[in-house]
Amino acid sequence: MVTLGFMSLSTSHEQGYAAELASRTEAHQIQFVRFTPFDLSPDSMLINALSYHTPSGQWNDSTIEIPEFIYDRCFYGRDSLSKKAKPIVDWLKKYPKTTFLGYGLADKWTIQNYLQSHADLKAYLPDTSLVSGFSHIADLLMKEKACVLKPVSGGGGRGVILLEFRDKTTKATYHFGKNKQIKRFASLNALELWTKKVLLHSYMIQPYLSIQDKNGYPCDIRILLQKTKNGKWASVGKAVRKGYQYGFLSNLNGGAEILKFDEWFRSLPKMQQALLLDDIDTISTHVPQVLEEKHGPLFELGLDICLANDGKVWLFDVNSKPGRKSILSAEPNTKDFLYESPFNYCTYLMTPEAGGVIQHD
Ligand SMILES: Nc1ncnc2c1ncn2[C@@H]1O[C@H](COP(=O)(O)OP(=O)(O)O)[C@@H](O)[C@H]1O
Ligand SMILES: [Mg+2]
Repeated sequence: MVTLGFMSLSTSHEQGYAAELASRTEAHQIQFVRFTPFDLSPDSMLINALSYHTPSGQWNDSTIEIPEFIYDRCFYGRDSLSKKAKPIVDWLKKYPKTTFLGYGLADKWTIQNYLQSHADLKAYLPDTSLVSGFSHIADLLMKEKACVLKPVSGGGGRGVILLEFRDKTTKATYHFGKNKQIKRFASLNALELWTKKVLLHSYMIQPYLSIQDKNGYPCDIRILLQKTKNGKWASVGKAVRKGYQYGFLSNLNGGAEILKFDEWFRSLPKMQQALLLDDIDTISTHVPQVLEEKHGPLFELGLDICLANDGKVWLFDVNSKPGRKSILSAEPNTKDFLYESPFNYCTYLMTPEAGGVIQHD
C-alpha cells in the first residue's frame, strides 16, 4: 500500500484537517501519516511519523520510509522553525522516490511576474511594483492618494498596510489579527521614519482599489481550485469574505465573515453578473495553467478575486496552500469532496498516465 504523508511544521497545526483526512483513508487503500520535516532522520532516511488508528481515533508513533506522496502543508514565517524546515523540505522536493501533491508557490512578487506574462491575466492584476525606497512610496501616494503595501512573503493579511493621503495628512491602516490599527502622519518625513521601522522586509506596492460594497464593507471572492481524480483542474467551491465596515482587509484572520457566493451574487445587477462569471472563468482557467508552466506541478490553489466599485474584476492573490474554512462554511455540501480530494488526486498520480508510483528498492 502506498503512503501519503501530511507534512506541516508542527503536528499541532491543522489537527482537525489531518484527522478528518486520516479517518477517510480506508476506502482509498492509501496509508496516511503525518509528520514534520524535523522527523526525518538524515542518517537512516526514516521518518518518525504519526499514523492514525481509525477505531480509536488516536495517532500512534510509527517509523516509516519517506512516503511515496507528500501533502505539503508547511506555512513558513520568519521564525527559526521555518528557517530550519525550508532546506529539509527543499531536499525532500528533490528526493526522487517521493512526489509532492503540489510544489508550494514562491513569493508574491515572483507569482505576480509569472501571471503578468500572460496577456489575458495581465488585465486582472493591479499595477504592482517592488518598493525600491521611500520616494517610490511617496510618489505613488501623491499620485494615487491611496495605495496598499504588502509583504512579498506574507499571507492572511499580515503586514498589509493601506496608506491614504488627504488634507496634507497620511493615514496608515493595518491589522494585528482582528484589531484594526490606525496611525496618522502630519508630514512625509514622519511617514518615512515609520516606514523605515515597519518595512523591514521586501514589500510590494499597488494602488488602492475600492472594493467596499455600497455599505462600506470590503469584500472579496475566494475560489478554491483543485485537481480532481482525472488530473484536471476544477473549481470546487466559492465563498465571499466580508471584512470590517469601512475597513480594507477581507481576510478571515482580519475578522471577515463568510457569505454564500450565490446569495451575494444575486444582489448584483444582471449585466454585472454575466461579466463577473466570465472574468472568473478566464482567471480560473489560465492561472493554474500559467503557474504550472512557470513553476511546476500544483494540486490546489486559492484565488482571491474582487469586484471593485467601478465593476472591474481584479485578482489580488494566489495561495498554493489554501485553507478550506470559507468554502466549507459557504458550501457545507462540498465537505466530502474536499476531504476526499487529496486521496483522489493521489490515486490519479499512481496511474501510468500520471507517471505511476516510484517504488522504493
Ligand atoms: N490593492 C488593493 N486595494 C484594496 N484592497 C487590497 C489591495 N490589496 C489587498 N487588499 C486587501 O487586503 C487583503 C489581503 O491582501 P492579499 O493580497 O490577499 O494578501 P494576503 O496574502 O495577506 O492575503 C485582500 O483580501 C484585500 O481585502
Ligand atoms: Mg489573500
